[in-house]
Formats: sequence, C-alpha cells, structure tokens
Amino acid sequence: MNHKNQSNQMWGGRFSSGPVGVMEDINASIDFDCKLYAQDIHGSLVHAAMLAQQGIISKSDHQAIEKGLKIILQEIEEGIFTFSRKLEDIHMNIEARLTELIGPAAGRLHTARSRNDQVALDLRLWVKEQIQKIIKNLQDFLSNLLIQAEKHAETLMPGFTHLQTAQPVTFGHHLMAYVEMFGRDLSRLCDTLHRMDEMPLGAAALAGTSFPIDRFMTARALGFREPTRNSIDSVSDRDFVLEFLADAAITSTHLSRLSEEIIIWSTPQFNFIRLSDAFSTGSSIMPQKKNPDAAELIRAKTGRIYGDLVALLTVMKGLPLAYSKDMQEDKEAVFDAVATLELSLTAMKGMISDMTIQIAMMEKAAGSGYTTATDLADWLVRMIGLPFREAHHITGQIIATAECKKCNLEQISLSELQVIHPAITKDIFKFLSPKKSVKSRKSYGGTAPQEVRRQICYWKKRLAKIQESRHA
Ligand code: ARG
Repeated sequence: MNHKNQSNQMWGGRFSSGPVGVMEDINASIDFDCKLYAQDIHGSLVHAAMLAQQGIISKSDHQAIEKGLKIILQEIEEGIFTFSRKLEDIHMNIEARLTELIGPAAGRLHTARSRNDQVALDLRLWVKEQIQKIIKNLQDFLSNLLIQAEKHAETLMPGFTHLQTAQPVTFGHHLMAYVEMFGRDLSRLCDTLHRMDEMPLGAAALAGTSFPIDRFMTARALGFREPTRNSIDSVSDRDFVLEFLADAAITSTHLSRLSEEIIIWSTPQFNFIRLSDAFSTGSSIMPQKKNPDAAELIRAKTGRIYGDLVALLTVMKGLPLAYSKDMQEDKEAVFDAVATLELSLTAMKGMISDMTIQIAMMEKAAGSGYTTATDLADWLVRMIGLPFREAHHITGQIIATAECKKCNLEQISLSELQVIHPAITKDIFKFLSPKKSVKSRKSYGGTAPQEVRRQICYWKKRLAKIQESRHA
C-alpha cells in the first residue's frame, strides 16, 4: 500500500504518509465526539475574542473567525456539514471547514491553544450542561415522590427487614426514604458541579503558553468560576467525569432498588400497587400477565452505568501526566451514562406518578404477620417495668397463642393475655393495631403520619430553595 502524500493536513507537516485504514479506525473519534460541536464552537468563539482583546490576533481576523464559526454552527445544526474521519475529531473537522470558509485566518484560531486543553474544555462544558439537566430532572422526580408521599402519609403498609414483615409503617414514610436517597444524589451532583467549575483552556499542550492570554476573561465568558491553576493537571484531569459517573452510578443504584420494590409490589402475591398500562407490557403467550418491563429495564440499565464508571476508572488508572490519547476513551462512557440515566429517571418519574396504590391490600398486609409484636414488648417494658429481654419472651408466648388461634394480636382476649402475664391491662389494646402502632412512632424521623408530614414539609422547602438558587 502506498500512503504517500496523504498525511493529515492538520499535523502532517513532518509525516510523509497518511494513516492506514485501521489506524483511522482506531484513531478517529469524530463518530462520537461530533456531539461536542456546540461546546467546541462556543469555546473557540470565546478564545478568539480573548486573543483579539489581548492583541494576539487582529480585529479583522477575529471577525472572520467569528463569522466562519457561526456559519459552521448553522451548517452542523441544519445537518449539511460533512464530517470526515480523516480529520479525526470534532476539533479538526471544524478547523478544516473554517479554513475552507475564511482561508489562512483560520490558522490563527489555534494560537495559544492545543487540542489537549480544547477537548478538556469541551467535555467540561458538555458535562456541566448535562449535570444541570439531570439536576432538573431529579428535582421533578423528587416533587412527584413528595406528591405521592403526601397522599399516602397515613396509608399503612408492612415495613420489611430481610424482606420479612417487620413493623407497620406508612407508604408515605417508605417513599420518603427514597426522597432522602435521591435528595443525596441531587446534592452530590451539585457538589460535583461546584468542584468542576474551573476552566482549563490556556493550559495549551501541557505547559501553558508564552502568549499574553487572559484566562480569567475566558473563564468568565464561558461561565466558569475561575481558571484551573495548574496547566499539567488541566489537560490530564478527568476527575470531573469520574465523579459524575460515580454520582450517576449511585443514583442508578437507588433507581434499581426502587425498581426492585416496584416489581415485588406489583406481583399478584403482594398486589400493593398496579402499574399503569403505559409502563407495563403483556405476554405473547400468557394472557393474564402484565409485566413491569420499565422497572426491570431500569434495574438492568444500572449495569451499563457501573460499566461506564469502571471503564473510565480503568482508562485513567495507569496514565502518566499529562495528556495521553487513552483519554479519548472518556467520551463514549460518559455519553452513554448520561443518556441511560436520563432515560431511567424519566421512566421512573412516569411510573411513580402513574401507579395505583392498592390501599386495602397494603393495610391488610400491614396487620398480618404479628407486625405489632415490638409494640407489645415495648408496652410490657414501659407499663409493667419488665426488662426488655423478658418482655420479648412473654411476647413470644402471646404470639404462639395467636398462632394457635389463627388470629391477630389485638384479637386475643384480655383474660387470655393475663394467663400469660397477670399484670397486663386493657390499656395494651391501644397499641396493638397497626394504625395505633404507626401513630405512636413519633420519634423524629419516625413513621407517625405527623412526622412523615414534617419531613415532607422540610423537603418541599429544601427543593424550593435549590430551585431558587439555581435560578439566581
Ligand atoms: N480527540 C482527542 C480526545 O478526544 C482530542 C485531543 C487530541 N490531542 C492530541 N494531542 N492528539 O482526546
């Protein structure tokens, strides 16, 4: 094969032959990094303006560059821009087109810049925007959860440990556990956004530049808090992507746990909820079936997001400073994670607001399986002064009686209870129904409806505050 005279027009000065096909296949990133076109052009517009302001390029070159970049933006958005794999990536595709449009002035745009800091900037801009979108999506989802929690602040359901019926709780309380989880996810994303709010452009290849650039101006114009402080770190850091992927992995874990519960709750055996038709499918052979496919897929997609995180951690772990081409592998992982998380969140949001709660079934289950046994033991401690261990033992005897009679605890008569312990009075019946049990758990953060409502109030205020600060 003769590759002579086909060297890359951007960096081919010292090369006498172009890349063989397989090299192009492994090297080119344009098939996926074309996603960064808007960020790339935005970064270039600001960079060119800064170069002009600092007298590094002329006003007329700046004007030509600006005009050309805007044409390119339009061409890409209209779908008439031809991307070329020969030009490797989005940065060189745009620059090559700029040269076609405005001639040699295009070559001045890359003054005091390298693709290393350029790609670091583009990806940061993109990830920042996506995190903001996900934060918005999470806020909406939290609002939906709060609406359901408020509706069901008094709806009884069995609480579980080891997936065994444990103590009665309210469905609102259970949903509020997810509000706490997704609320932490939200605050993690806000932290990530804050930490990554530093602008890398101007680090050039790795060492900075001898041109009198103004990185503070660039940072301001691109909406960053400040420029990065170390040029080597600027081009080699992908922590911001890793951190986002870790946030996404934790959020998807939470989505997966909720999916799992939705799947269990919607089985005919539990029958706690009915999913809307919109979020379930039928079986092609078994007419009676309604499958919770959306929940199952959200549960499964968690694996993709973990994969994205582990892929990039692995890419980064052995890299010497500063830039290495390995880092080009960051993009597909983060693109996939963002798309997957957005889709899962949106589907979960729909599922939660559409589902029907089978209140009667939940309440019935809340009372079966001796869920108020702890209340009984607590009463023996509080009212008769028994040590908890002894109260536990006596409660066990009462449960055995109930099992024998195939009835609930509150259905055993006082005289039967007194046979087991003579000091028991009728006062105990105030605590044996699931409703009374729930109402009595008034400790801060407990399941009593008044406490659940207190926490709903807290989250409504907190969400409103986050919304305000994001709009400020
Ligand atoms: N496409 C490259 C990436 O995504 C851009 C940076 C290339 N820099 C270089 N020196 N080859 O990482």
